[in-house]
Parts: sequence; structure tokens; C-alpha cells
Amino acid sequence: MKIDIHSHILPGIDDGARTLEESVQLVSEMAGWGFERITCTPHITKKFRNTQESIKEKFDILTNALSDKGLDIELRMSAEYRLNPETWPEILSQGQLMPIEDQYILMEFPINDPMEMGDLIPMEEFRKVLSLGLTPVLPHPERYFYLDHDSLLRYVDAGVKIQSNYGSLAGVYGSEVHDRAQSLINEGIVSFLASDMHNMIYIKTISDWLRSGNSLWDI
Ligand SMILES: [Fe+2]
Repeated sequence: MKIDIHSHILPGIDDGARTLEESVQLVSEMAGWGFERITCTPHITKKFRNTQESIKEKFDILTNALSDKGLDIELRMSAEYRLNPETWPEILSQGQLMPIEDQYILMEFPINDPMEMGDLIPMEEFRKVLSLGLTPVLPHPERYFYLDHDSLLRYVDAGVKIQSNYGSLAGVYGSEVHDRAQSLINEGIVSFLASDMHNMIYIKTISDWLRSGNSLWDI
């Protein structure tokens, strides 16, 4: 089954799709690429204080809209949990994690400033998730310029799975991120590729990349 484990397609809930119309457009394009199931993973951060309830509300709105349109694609619900002191410790302590495919927890770092993690030590937080029998997934490490490669390898050795973005390969974030993603893939440490779909810029860039002979399923 062709599954996307990381997307921001729910309307008006984070920095992804802004309207229901845009959400439907994104899903329709992704269905055209061949995806059969998309996991909705809105950010939960200091800025986007999403909860299971707020995510479920938008999830129901989008799934109803897709079924009205007759779009044959399955949506599932999870979140992208940022390691920051404002949201992560409480979610973890209250047992509110929503695993992807009953197994994986998407745990993102701050994109630019590691200080936003406060006192949280990523390896300790990964171990807490592992101790629950779940598998941490670190999304798009190619975008964390402050993250050194040795740390990344230590995470992988500890059982963390690495997820790179299709958009990184397609050039959404520029050539340096592209090269870093390609080199992680070449090294063989990337377990998942995902869309991290946010908006039509992603659709256009990835569509252009596919038209120039690339494939989502053969990397
Ligand atoms: Fe994301």
C-alpha cells in the first residue's frame, strides 16, 4: 500500500493547508500521484497548540469533504510532535500520543534554533518513546543544519527511524537540503520518505520533479 506518513493537509490548524478547499486540492493531487493512504500530522508546538480533539475536528471535516467529492483515498490521524518544553512533556506524561500505523511517533526538532528545545535532551526523549514499545521517527534531518552527523547516527543506533522529505529531493528547500537528503539516502539510513505536504508550492515542485523522470516509489 502506498502510504504517506507525514502531511499538513488539515485545514487551518497549523502552517499547512489554510482552507478546506486547499486541503481537498492537495489530497486530490496526492491521490493522482498514487498515494492510497495519507496520515495527517499537524504540528503540535508552542505556536500550534493542537490536541487530539482539535485535530479530530478538522480530520472529520476533511474526510467528509473527500467522501462528498468521491475521492478514493484513506486518511488517518496523528501529529508531528515538536521537542519543546511547552507541549511535549505534557503530551508524553498524559499518554496522549497518537502513533502512525499504531507504531511510529513523528518527533521533530526546531528547524533553526535548537535552543527552543530548552532542557530536553533528544536521546532521552527518544528512549522514553522506545520504552513505550513505540518507534520514534525523526523527520527531515536534512533540514536541521545544526544537527551533526554523529548525533544522527547515534539516534539511528538507538532505534530511531529517519524520514526524509520528497520535497527535499525535489528542491523545495534549496540545493543544500537536497544534497544532504540525497547523501542520507545514499548512506542507507533513511527508512521513510514522506511528503510533509503543506501547500501548492510543494505540489508544484514535486510534480515538476516527477515530470522530469523521478518516481515516488523507486528511490
Ligand atoms: Fe511536517
